[in-house]
Amino acid sequence: MVRIIPASPKIGAEIQGVNIKTMDEATFRTVYQAFLDHIVIVIRGQDLNEEDFMAFSSRFGELKPHMTKKAHHPRYPNLMLMDNRILNTRTGEESKTASPLLIRIGNVWHTDTSYDYITAKATGMYAINVPSVGGDTLFSNSYAAYDALPSGLKQKLEGRSASHIYGGRLKRQQERMEDSERGRAPAIHPMTPTHPETGRKSLYFNDGQIMSILGLEQAQSDALIADLAQRTASPDGDYRHKWQKGDVVLWDNRCSIHCATGDYPANERRTNWRSTIMDFGWQAQRSSLQARSA
Ligand code: SIN
Repeated sequence: MVRIIPASPKIGAEIQGVNIKTMDEATFRTVYQAFLDHIVIVIRGQDLNEEDFMAFSSRFGELKPHMTKKAHHPRYPNLMLMDNRILNTRTGEESKTASPLLIRIGNVWHTDTSYDYITAKATGMYAINVPSVGGDTLFSNSYAAYDALPSGLKQKLEGRSASHIYGGRLKRQQERMEDSERGRAPAIHPMTPTHPETGRKSLYFNDGQIMSILGLEQAQSDALIADLAQRTASPDGDYRHKWQKGDVVLWDNRCSIHCATGDYPANERRTNWRSTIMDFGWQAQRSSLQARSA
């Protein structure tokens, strides 16, 4: 029997009693509804190969290779191979201990791929090697972040959009980029979008990659970005996921932010596969913004 157990008051649920490899359509519908209701779903104890994990992820939507080519799985580009010792998956370049740069990847509150015009609806991760301590992932609910804004600030953000760029203001992400990945045009996204499936409003904010809020002087925009960063980043988030080998965690990027804590021993290995699931549901909202800002 499928059981859905909330992981915290604001976000996350563990789904028990499912086997990802054999899940029928009716069970998947329950899992999908839990994803919409709880934003982050956790399914523990799975024994998957790459194709099993891709097949499960693609039940949520179309998969896409991540921009960072150095992290593509060598045989399955729709997956990222996130391993703290593999510096470049295509050349096979490795370091003997965990790379300090890779330990800190994802260690900022963010939503995935806001630098793309069509963003990631969801991200899935499967844990292969888990450090003995640390290496957790924190999640926060962006519907709640929107609801908690003072009404004056909600009004100020209503109808506004912001530009997001790959690499953004994050030095360590820029260091991972290849020349062909630089110089992309910014993507424009609404700051308080309506979720296409739940109809709820959220605060769409990505601290590392948001560059400016359209229609404001740069100084005003910088001040507002700094204010929103304070409001959205909290030391522990709303839910802390402590990974176990065999965990599948899948989150909704349209209404949450996450942050990798990165605080594990450098002599231990952390390895995950990660899938990027596309969102075509916001295209209409975004087309009109893109046209207005052109
Ligand atoms: C991510 O930031 O997308 C990955 C999170 C993690 O490595 O814990």
